Amino acid sequence: WVRLVTAKTPTNIAVIKYWGKRDEALILAINDSISVTLDPNHLCTTTTVAVSPAFQQDRMWLNGKEISLAGDRYQNCLREIRKRACDVEEEDKGIKIAKKDWESLHVHIASYNNFPTAAGLASSAAGLACLAKLMNVKEDQGQLSAIARQGSGSACRSLYGGFVKWIMGNSEDGSDSLAVQVTDEKHWDDLVILIAVVSSRQKETSSTSGMRESVETSLLLKHRAQEIVPKRIIQMEEAIKTKDFPAFARLACADSNQFHAVCLDTTPPIFYMNDTSHRIISIVEKWNLAEGTPQVAYTFDAGPNAVLIARDRKAASLLLQRMLFYFPPGAGADLNSYVLGDESI
Ligand code: DP6
Repeated sequence: WVRLVTAKTPTNIAVIKYWGKRDEALILAINDSISVTLDPNHLCTTTTVAVSPAFQQDRMWLNGKEISLAGDRYQNCLREIRKRACDVEEEDKGIKIAKKDWESLHVHIASYNNFPTAAGLASSAAGLACLAKLMNVKEDQGQLSAIARQGSGSACRSLYGGFVKWIMGNSEDGSDSLAVQVTDEKHWDDLVILIAVVSSRQKETSSTSGMRESVETSLLLKHRAQEIVPKRIIQMEEAIKTKDFPAFARLACADSNQFHAVCLDTTPPIFYMNDTSHRIISIVEKWNLAEGTPQVAYTFDAGPNAVLIARDRKAASLLLQRMLFYFPPGAGADLNSYVLGDESI
């Protein structure tokens, strides 16, 4: 017999960034972060997991290519989830798995991203929710997020929809470092998110090694984590709860720019944005200034792709027109636009 479970894990985009770890093995951050989870029907990872007594070892495929599960991150996640596995019974298929059987049973995991992998769009959100379902794990979302965190820090925020905060926590063992929902996906549904894919090339410096180098060499990072982010987290939560777009946009843009400033302050410096990213920033800044109040916020993760958050559908439609004007298809600007949240604009 084979038991199969398929699930979609949505991507999240940070509006207050996580950059820097206080514990590399457990993946514990040096500051809290806040993200917005995208609609799972747009950018997401679809994972199918299977278990069968015929499987000889745990194996995983990403976009059809087999990858090694030898790394600590995969092993930690698999071990933690196995520990919590429960009895499973599917009478019609003759499947009966007792809790203790999970120790010796192997899983096959196949994940597909419907977006550029490792190009700075959080693609690492693991298929953990899916494994949890397969193994009938009873843990709540918060506890699952703490396991997902051990696969990749930012992935822990994808366990919830809407706006999500990853609390860095204080304990040494990481037990209080988990994600909580700030507001659900219906709370601020005026917002429209558009992703301008500037480059689908693999990033040169991975987030993991980039943030390690920043922690080792950037003084700005220390100042950011201790003095700036704690205040911004409070202000951002307030802006989200009260749907205060000008405050939201100001904070999101400033935090993205500060994260990239930290990358520049790292030795050797890390460049994630390129000329097209910089052009997009100035187009948005000029437009917001001309309007007198922000219409669009921008944020860039560890890559050149722009995530643009429009205050409403009208602003999103004007934004799209503008983007097409400045970056006409085929004009060599290396830009494809993905519209998320609302296909109809
Ligand atoms: C810039 O979560 O990919 O996207 O924990 O080492 O796997 P690891 O790093 P990762 O870093 C994401 C960094 C970021 C900001 C963010 O998502 O908060």
